[in-house]
Amino acid sequence: MFAPSPSTYDLPDVWYLAADGMFRFGSLSVTDGRIASVRPAGPPLPRPPPDAPWWAPAGVDPHVHFREPGAAASEGVANGSRAARAGGVAWVCDMPNNVPPVLTAEDLRAKAARFRRDCPLRFALFLDARGDAPLEPPACGYKLFLTDVACTRTAIAPLLRGRKRVTVHAEDAARFRSGPALPHHRRRPIRAVTAALLALEDAYFSLPERDRPVLVLAHATGRPEMAFAWRMRRKGARLFVETAPHYLLFTARDQCAAGAALKVNPPLRSGADRIALWHAIQEGDIDFFGSDHAPHLPEAKSSADPPSGMPGVEWFLPLAYTFAAAGFLPFRRVMELTSLAARRAYGLPASEGIAPGSPADLARMVPAAYATLPAARVPLRLSARPGTPVRPVVSRAGYNPYRDFPFAWFVDDLRIS
Ligand code: DOR
Ligand code: ZN
Repeated sequence: MFAPSPSTYDLPDVWYLAADGMFRFGSLSVTDGRIASVRPAGPPLPRPPPDAPWWAPAGVDPHVHFREPGAAASEGVANGSRAARAGGVAWVCDMPNNVPPVLTAEDLRAKAARFRRDCPLRFALFLDARGDAPLEPPACGYKLFLTDVACTRTAIAPLLRGRKRVTVHAEDAARFRSGPALPHHRRRPIRAVTAALLALEDAYFSLPERDRPVLVLAHATGRPEMAFAWRMRRKGARLFVETAPHYLLFTARDQCAAGAALKVNPPLRSGADRIALWHAIQEGDIDFFGSDHAPHLPEAKSSADPPSGMPGVEWFLPLAYTFAAAGFLPFRRVMELTSLAARRAYGLPASEGIAPGSPADLARMVPAAYATLPAARVPLRLSARPGTPVRPVVSRAGYNPYRDFPFAWFVDDLRIS
C-alpha cells in the first residue's frame, strides 16, 4: 500500500504539461485536492525538456480487470492499484466479469467495500448489464458482453433500454470458429465483430430516442469498429470509442509469433486495421484509451489452452506520451486520450488538465533511457539508446508485453485528488 497524497501542497519550480498542450516551467499549488494556482515562470515549449522530469495530468484508465471478488490471486485490487500507480493512473474503472459477477445492488456494495479497503486510487465500478443493479456511485456504467447474449434485437434492446450508459464488448460468439489448428484471430474472426455491431446498431435504433443510452464501444480493434462509429454518429447516436494501446502496436502476426502473451479478446487484427486506428485517433474519431488490463497468472498463460488478456495499466501514461514523443500525436491529444475524455464519458469529476480548479490528479514523468528496437514492427523511429533500465513488473501477470517499446518516460510519482 502506498501513502495517500496530502490534499494541500505546493510543487515549486517544476516542468508541467499545461492545459493548452504546451510545456511550462513554474509553480503549482494544490488546495483541498484541487489545483489552486498555476504560475508559469517562463515561455511555453512545444516539447518537454530532454532530461528533466515533468508533471502530467494523471491517467484515467476506464477499463481494468482487477479480478475481485473471485480471482484475487490473478491480480487483486491492492496489487492492481500498485500497477496502476506505476502507470501514472489515478482513476480506474473496474470491469464486472468476475465470478461472482456484479448483478445486484448488493453485489455492488460488496465490491465497493473491497475497493474502499484496498484501492488507494480513485475508482468506479461497472455493473453487469444482465443484472438489475441501479447505476449509482461508485458505479459508472453497465458493461454488456455481447459474447454472452444472443446478438439479436430482442436480446440486446432490453439491456440498453432506459439506461444512462452502456459500455459494449462487441463480438458475436455465434460467429466464432473452432479447430485446434486455427490461430486465435481466426477463431474469433473480424466478422464476429461486424455481426455484433450490426445487431447493436439495430437494437439501439429500435428504441425510442429517450430510452437510448450513451454507448461506449470498448477496445476498438480496427476498421469495422470505426465504420460503426461513423454510421452511429451520423445517425445521431451518442457514442464514445475506446481503444487500447496493444491494438495500435501489435497485429495478429505478432500474436502468432508471441503466443499467449499477446492473446487477447477481441484479437489483434491486421496491419491495415492497426493503421486505421491511428488514422481514427488522429481524426478525433477515437475518444480515449483504456488499457484493458486483464492479467492472468504465468501458469495459466503457459497452459495448453491459455486464457485471453494481457496486462497494461502499468504502462498507461508511458506508452501514450511516448506516442507524442515520437510525433504520432500532439501532447494535448494524448492528455485528452489518457486523462480528460474518459472523465466526460463516465461522469467522473471533470478536469481541464493542469489548470486552476481541476482535480489534483498528477503524475510525474521521468525520462527513460530509450530501449533498443529489436524489430521493425513498431513504427516508432526514436533515437534508440541501448540499455534501458528494466523495470520490475508489478502485475501478477509477471510480464511486460511492451518490453521492446522505446519508452521515453516512466512515472515516478503520483498524486491523487
Ligand atoms: O482478453 C480479454 N480478457 N478480453 C476480455 O474481454 C476479458 C478479459 C479478461 O477478463 O481476461
Ligand atoms: Zn476488458
